[in-house]
Amino acid sequence: MPKLIVVTRAGEEREIDGEAGLSVMEVIRDAGIDEVLALCGGCCSCATCHVHVDPAFAAKLPAMSEDENDLLDSSSDRDDRSRLSCQLQFTSALDGLKVTIAAED
Ligand code: FES
Repeated sequence: MPKLIVVTRAGEEREIDGEAGLSVMEVIRDAGIDEVLALCGGCCSCATCHVHVDPAFAAKLPAMSEDENDLLDSSSDRDDRSRLSCQLQFTSALDGLKVTIAAED
């Protein structure tokens, strides 16, 4: 199983075996990390699944949709590493991906 490394808001780093095919948000949630609220359930309408992605993986991520871009604009913690984790499908190509959970808005 590919590994996902999650840094929580407290700075704790956790390594998770993630199921390929799930979204990064679902992998985080299924690991019992409750900081990613994912209020809309993954349909790109809440921005509570905001994470900062390790730039080393930027080229492997799917392109950002206009909706995702607009939603991220509503976050005060947005930077050039920001993505909505529900929009990132976790695959074996992303093995070792490191994401940091964004600050709560
Ligand atoms: S879970 Fe709502 S936008 Fe990702």
